[in-house]
Amino acid sequence: MTGVSHESGYDHQIVTSVARLSPAAITARVPAKINLQLAVGPARADGYHSLVTVFHAVSLFDEVTVLPAGEMSLSVSGEDADVVPVDQSNLAWQAAVALAKAAGLRDAAAEIRIRKRIPVAAGLAGGSADGAATLVACNELWQTGLSATELAEIGAGLGSDVPFALAGGTVVGRGRGEQLTPALAAGTYHWALAFGSEGLSTAQVYATCDRLRAARVAAGKQPPPGEPELSHPLMTALRSGDPARVGPLLSNDLQPAALSLRSRLRRTLAAGREFGALGAVVSGSGPTCAFLAKSPSHAREIAVGLTGAGVCRAVARASGPVPGASVVRDGS
Ligand code: C5P
Repeated sequence: MTGVSHESGYDHQIVTSVARLSPAAITARVPAKINLQLAVGPARADGYHSLVTVFHAVSLFDEVTVLPAGEMSLSVSGEDADVVPVDQSNLAWQAAVALAKAAGLRDAAAEIRIRKRIPVAAGLAGGSADGAATLVACNELWQTGLSATELAEIGAGLGSDVPFALAGGTVVGRGRGEQLTPALAAGTYHWALAFGSEGLSTAQVYATCDRLRAARVAAGKQPPPGEPELSHPLMTALRSGDPARVGPLLSNDLQPAALSLRSRLRRTLAAGREFGALGAVVSGSGPTCAFLAKSPSHAREIAVGLTGAGVCRAVARASGPVPGASVVRDGS
């Protein structure tokens, strides 16, 4: 299963069906993700790693606007805009092409405008988010009428995190991250996010993880990695909705690799703990560090403290879970 429905009650309007004959512009908003658990297994024959992860969508959003056009084009503004490719290598562009193909539309094109707030190569799945938002927006622009499940299937072909960016919420991912099942999570969690000064390549972090593990196995310090397993204590804590129970159970098998590539992240994690974070973890392949707070005001305290300590490039506050990529009404 790649599509997941989420509960209503979120704080912005989601347009589920809009009957517009020739829409001028469609905007979709899409959240960043953090991983509450990331358990990584051995490399598979296709080079990907089997994993079990608990994805959690947080209120740090990119926006993608698509407009009718005679040929494909893409522009980017906002956070890290200068390092985002504006050609076919951008997942948003690939998403539009893949959707047109799946829907049997020949010569379909769009002008894609991305407004970024999610930093690039940060472990927050920003590129996947833009791909997901483009799928949702072009599905509306071209009135293709593909279902959420069909969009998730196209998304899985674009990148491991794209189906989750479509789904949002708090969700368990398996396979290479694209097979989703809902997690029963209660409550709202408040986060401080610390952004690093240089991005990390996801592929490089996975390769470093393999190398570090191989060295430890060769030295007899650990057995070869087995199939990854979901943390049941974490799932129980998430059902309770108590951040004090969730915080100590955050885990990420890629963290040692990210720390070996960016040793200064140790100081970032330690600083967040000093400011009372209930949990501190590298998000995905890093370098973003996520700190679980007791409350919105505590998240602000942690963010201010991290800034004062000079242990990161920038900070943000966010809460989760929030819904996945969705078309937003004008002005919302
Ligand atoms: O799927 P995506 O393009 O986001 O993956 C980027 C890279 O991350 C892959 O090329 C691979 O090196 C690594 N990866 C992995 N196992 C996963 C997901 C990603 O090894 N489950």
